Amino acid sequence: MAKLIGAIPVSVLPEDGTFYPRLQDIEERVGSYTRAVIINSPNNPSGAMYSEQFIADIVEFCEKRGLYLIMDDIYHRLVFDGRRPINCYDYAKDLSENSKLVVINGVSKQYAMTGFRIGWAVANKRLIEVMTNIQGHQTHGPSALLQRAAIAAINGVQSSVESLRVTLENNRNVLVERLESFDGVKVHKPDGTFYCFADFSYYDKDSTRLANHLLKKVLVVTVPGVEFGMEGYLRISFCGGIKDITEGIERMKWALDPNSPNELYIGDRKLIRDWT
Ligand SMILES: Cc1ncc(COP(=O)(O)O)c(C=O)c1O
Repeated sequence: MAKLIGAIPVSVLPEDGTFYPRLQDIEERVGSYTRAVIINSPNNPSGAMYSEQFIADIVEFCEKRGLYLIMDDIYHRLVFDGRRPINCYDYAKDLSENSKLVVINGVSKQYAMTGFRIGWAVANKRLIEVMTNIQGHQTHGPSALLQRAAIAAINGVQSSVESLRVTLENNRNVLVERLESFDGVKVHKPDGTFYCFADFSYYDKDSTRLANHLLKKVLVVTVPGVEFGMEGYLRISFCGGIKDITEGIERMKWALDPNSPNELYIGDRKLIRDWT
């Protein structure tokens, strides 16, 4: 999307090898051409949620440097282990019409309304007007029906969000526990979202080949890490039911573990292990 508007995206990989960037990692990549910093926390694909201190620091840094700070908060309510959503405006000094803070959110994750493609941006009035000028001619026009449904979700009883959150936390626990039983998988426990981004390079350093193998042989869908700039990783979604998650993991294990039995049944379908 950055390239689409003629910008040059620059990724920031935390130097310490974790999924948590430090302010100095970002500072080092900011130059005189930098116009905006994009932060997505909780993060797709890693599931990492950045600390309150980090958010406070990045808000302060961008304000000082006159940079736009675009916060993609779409998973903000889907957080685990007692974490609370972080509101970056709590740390902004400039809440005037010149604020360069842009917060993005939508209905797709918190209300399980993926596919509705209804979201919003919170920013200063002039910036929103400019965004509307462009968006009005590009992607404007979500159907009235979907807009009504989104309004109902936002204004309706919010207990569904908590129940989704609890379900996802439980799913996460089951998925992580099962993945940790693999010999070769390095797992980072997600703090939020519904994704686990795990290092499968022990089995295959080529994540596209590995994802294709799992899809073809045991009908399990994962997203190759290379699509997110991290070769050797796979993104696994845990937004399904527990049964689907445990079944999916069992199949992956069967496909990857050379000591697995020769046969596996998926319903009536008999799979034969014809690879090493
Ligand atoms: C980080 C992030 N931001 C925004 C979106 C956009 O969601 P949607 O287009 O469903 O509103 C997604 C969806 O996958 C996402 O992962």
